[in-house]
Amino acid sequence: MSLEGKVAIVTGSGRGLGLAYAQELARQGAAVIVNDVDEATAAEAVASITSAGGKATAVVAPVGSTETAQRLVQAAVESYSRLDIVVTNAGVLRDKVLWKMSDDDFDTVVNVHLRGTFTCVREAVGYMREHEIAGRVIAIGSPAGQRGNFGQTNYSGVKAAIVGMVRTWSMELRKAGITANAVIPVAATAMTATIPYFAAAVEAEQAGQTLPAFFRHDLGFGTADDVAGLVAFLASDAAAGITGQAIGVGGDRLQIWAHPEPVFNAYHEGGWSVEALEDALPDIIAAHRQSVGESFPPLPDELQR
Ligand SMILES: NC(=O)c1ccc[n+]([C@@H]2O[C@H](COP(=O)([O-])OP(=O)(O)OC[C@H]3O[C@@H](n4cnc5c(N)ncnc54)[C@H](O)[C@@H]3O)[C@@H](O)[C@H]2O)c1
Repeated sequence: MSLEGKVAIVTGSGRGLGLAYAQELARQGAAVIVNDVDEATAAEAVASITSAGGKATAVVAPVGSTETAQRLVQAAVESYSRLDIVVTNAGVLRDKVLWKMSDDDFDTVVNVHLRGTFTCVREAVGYMREHEIAGRVIAIGSPAGQRGNFGQTNYSGVKAAIVGMVRTWSMELRKAGITANAVIPVAATAMTATIPYFAAAVEAEQAGQTLPAFFRHDLGFGTADDVAGLVAFLASDAAAGITGQAIGVGGDRLQIWAHPEPVFNAYHEGGWSVEALEDALPDIIAAHRQSVGESFPPLPDELQR
């Protein structure tokens, strides 16, 4: 597999997962537009790629606006003459329970993740369609979006919406040969470093040690590099037949996520009145209740911190 001759944009690629994606895409031969809000971080990311023999250029700008999205596509075309791959990875957290979440907490997360994904993919796909490039859209979801998560109204909302957009894009882009998939990553990064449950894993990662098997295997929690292979594969010609999927990677685990679909149909002639529901719904729910949230096994004693 090679990405030689291809050009990619990776948003939020100054550090964390985005950096790992940019480095792996470059290692496979793609030229990469590195994007971040922090100039020094973006410059370091570019240096890490070029010093390893890869091609990269930085665009320091906050994703969300159409203007930034246009700048990113323009940079790809001006620097490397084309665009084949867009990875919408930039992200921020503003966690609070619903009743404490401000408009600003909500809007900030919506702007970076949801609007940032929408505007960047719209501009990228506009270019790909115009130039008849069978490109690749790789959007980033989260287990929180798939299952819900306490304290993450804004984040779980946008991550679920991103996967919703990917389903629609895979349908709209099929004729142009452009694939659209969601990657659902789990990794030790700045974003997960403060979660007490993962403390022993983050500690091992920072010490440059292999994460304990409990994290890598049982929980599917590893390093940013563990996720990068999937992003590079989906970006390649070998993945031309894969579209509309939500695929998770963490540590040693790969997961195919289901899309929502009805699990049970019941019919009542004339429709479902309150009385008919009162009669039937409690038993139907008892038989088909859907769970929410992620459930984690208890931490083994030696990994308690
Ligand atoms: N770490 C995980 O386990 C995990 C799990 C699920 C999903 N994700 C998602 O993966 C992506 C990367 O997460 P991470 O853990 O590497 O986080 P991170 O905080 O380490 O990195 C995010 C990067 O995005 C940049 N960024 C923030 N706002 C930006 C903006 N407006 N424009 C451009 N860049 C911006 C940051 O400066 C930072 O470099 C996010 O979308 C996150 O929601 C991460």
